[in-house]
Amino acid sequence: MCINKMLFSVNRLHLYSLLRMPPYSLLIIVTILNGFIHATMTQTIQTGRFDESIAPKESGCPNAEDIMPCECYTYPSQVELRLRCDNVTSEDELKHVFEAYFPNKNFKSFSMNVNEYIKTLEAGIFNDVTFEDIIISYSRLEVIATDAFNSSYNTIKTMNFLFSDLLHLPFVNFHDLKKLQSFQIVRNSLSFIHAETFYGLDALEMIVIRQTTANITGTFQNIPNLINLELRDNNLTSVPTHFCKTGSTNIKKVDLAFNRISEVADDAFDAVAGMSIDIHFNLLTELPESTWRPLLEAGVTVNAFGNPLLCGCDIAWMFDSAHLVNHMSYGTECDDGNGTLIHNVDPSIFDNC
Ligand SMILES: *[C@@H]1O[C@H](CO)[C@@H](O)[C@H](O)[C@H]1NC(C)=O
Ligand SMILES: *[C@@H]1O[C@H](CO)[C@@H](O)[C@H](O)[C@H]1NC(C)=O
Ligand SMILES: *[C@@H]1O[C@H](CO)[C@@H](O)[C@H](O)[C@H]1NC(C)=O
Ligand SMILES: *[C@@H]1O[C@H](CO)[C@@H](O)[C@H](O)[C@H]1NC(C)=O
Ligand SMILES: *[C@@H]1O[C@H](CO)[C@@H](O)[C@H](O)[C@H]1NC(C)=O
Repeated sequence: MCINKMLFSVNRLHLYSLLRMPPYSLLIIVTILNGFIHATMTQTIQTGRFDESIAPKESGCPNAEDIMPCECYTYPSQVELRLRCDNVTSEDELKHVFEAYFPNKNFKSFSMNVNEYIKTLEAGIFNDVTFEDIIISYSRLEVIATDAFNSSYNTIKTMNFLFSDLLHLPFVNFHDLKKLQSFQIVRNSLSFIHAETFYGLDALEMIVIRQTTANITGTFQNIPNLINLELRDNNLTSVPTHFCKTGSTNIKKVDLAFNRISEVADDAFDAVAGMSIDIHFNLLTELPESTWRPLLEAGVTVNAFGNPLLCGCDIAWMFDSAHLVNHMSYGTECDDGNGTLIHNVDPSIFDNC
């Protein structure tokens, strides 16, 4: 079955890198892959054979032979046209695909998964075909030219670049992506990302930058509808002022877990009741009042387990009458050799502070 075949090639390509990752990341990858596999499986089940799911021409697909080795199909409904180009072997071949006659140029998605050949996408390569979702995973793609996606500036909603070799952003004029809701880049190796790339994108709800760069410059500001900002597992070492002050009042989660953060500046985050800041498995030794009190007071939950917390005078403020230690997630331990939970610290140790 084709799913097995796909998984097999995924394994072959990346078993080594998968093995090197913390188990937590594996779970996430499985979740990501699951979405993809689920779509594939549903299709297999519905149609018996995968190949038969390729849409008939009436759906708006081009002639199958004109766009080989890409495949056009509809999913989940007949009105959603999708293009899958996993087996494309050269950039010229891909370019040629988009020179074919497309009776309907408006596609829901473009995907290229488990591809070893395509290293660059040049400007205008998609000709005038438009996409809402771009999914590229397990590829050797290094460079996406500015304007590679210029046909889709008015349509792009999601962009996912997973397990590839991308070297730098931006490869689109992000400011033109007025409908961009979700941007994910996972396991690529960029020398830096400018947080300002996302400035002013008011449809954007999710940013995921994971295992991708230790050098995120600038600040994530003016992203007024952001819900989720995930910067996990990047080897970041500090969180500067305003770094994650997106200005969104809908924000639910800022995730900085599994970095090497030893310093967090004051006024670095949005302070929205009900949101969480995940900063577990970093190198924080102290939780200074000026940084964390305004957040806990605003009703933010802070997850800080897995840090070498000294639990000295720096946290005395958590035990005053407001008892803000209650807003620290349960399970946060002190690095005192006994694994004392921060919630169970005996406040009398602060008498001499
Ligand atoms: C890619 O090629 C393989 C082997 O020829 C085939 O089984 C698979 O269906 C193709 N996939 C797509 C998406 O064209
Ligand atoms: C996209 O860029 C290519 C190459 O620069 C150009 O030829 C084409 O006209 C552009 N298309 C749009 C829709 O701007
Ligand atoms: C981070 O990226 C910037 C480019 O935006 C560069 O000037 C700087 O040297 C980089 N810093 C590190 C530590 O690599
Ligand atoms: C973080 O550091 C580890 C160990 O040096 C390295 O293997 C990994 O690639 C780095 N990750 C990023 C995103 O820079
Ligand atoms: C750890 O526990 C032992 C035994 O209860 C106690 O003697 C010691 O003082 C504790 N260490 C710290 C740093 O609290």
